[in-house]
Amino acid sequence: MANQAVNLQQAPVGDRAVARVLAVTSGKGGVGKTNIATNLALCMAASEKRVLLLDADISLGNLDLLLNIRSKYNISHVINGSKRVEDIIQLGPLGLQIICGASGLDQLADISESEQHRLLQHLSGLQHASDTIVIDTAAGISNSVVSFCLAADHVLVVTTPEVTAMTDAYGMIKVLVRKRFDGPISVVVNMAQSIAEGRSIYQRLADVAARFLRVDLYYAGVLLKDERLCAAVRSRQPVVLAYPKSQIASSFNSLAARLGGIDCSRADGGTFFRRVFRWLT
Ligand SMILES: Nc1ncnc2c1ncn2[C@@H]1O[C@H](COP(=O)(O)OP(=O)(O)OP(=O)(O)O)[C@@H](O)[C@H]1O
Ligand SMILES: [Mg+2]
Repeated sequence: MANQAVNLQQAPVGDRAVARVLAVTSGKGGVGKTNIATNLALCMAASEKRVLLLDADISLGNLDLLLNIRSKYNISHVINGSKRVEDIIQLGPLGLQIICGASGLDQLADISESEQHRLLQHLSGLQHASDTIVIDTAAGISNSVVSFCLAADHVLVVTTPEVTAMTDAYGMIKVLVRKRFDGPISVVVNMAQSIAEGRSIYQRLADVAARFLRVDLYYAGVLLKDERLCAAVRSRQPVVLAYPKSQIASSFNSLAARLGGIDCSRADGGTFFRRVFRWLT
């Protein structure tokens, strides 16, 4: 797939002046964030929205592997000034715009003020070139991961039925609440054995969060454990493209529809990348 420049000056579609930003996060690693972010972004792109998928994984970014794209340039080249942001956006399937992650992205907080301003200026333009930005975060609750979540309009927390995944998902939700994230927090249960099991996992998290954190968690859906997703990963294709008629592809479509229906208006009215930098600095 060729590395193509994307026109950032395009007029926004509809009446939204800036993109809505969804951060996909989890706490625990390996629970399905990258697959969920990618398949969700593709479902949104299929409904003719301009969607940008940003790999914010600072150490093991693997969006390029899943989408089978070569990423000669990534966000670190924008930071060091060797590339403009429009030069590092790749065009993927269904017109999906993709920015690959950098192993140096964890140094974001250490970059100089002039570099920060340059990056801010470059990334701000993305908001006007997209309707939705989906961020695939790294595992854990490092400053960088939390910053991207705090800056987003909406956070999707991924868990599995495993106790460790649930504990880490709750840990992430707790950090967001403590840091006064004021957008919606949704939960998707991945790799469930049944819809009923997934729903009960969501309910347990939602009950604990309501009781101890006084926050409502939105139900985003359940994704079953499905060998087709693994087969798709092995063939380096997102499952919604490899098996578009499968049950899991239809679950991803429902997830996209449900998330799209959640009101994300934020009290502070600030734009995404300004909020990122507020939390990074
Ligand atoms: N619904 C599912 N059914 C079966 N296997 C799944 C499912 N979701 C994820 N997996 C398996 O989990 C693996 C890890 O998924 P993925 O890379 O999306 O996780 P991640 O949370 O992004 O990991 P990391 O924390 O390392 O970034 C996949 O390669 C696949 O084998
Ligand atoms: Mg990942």
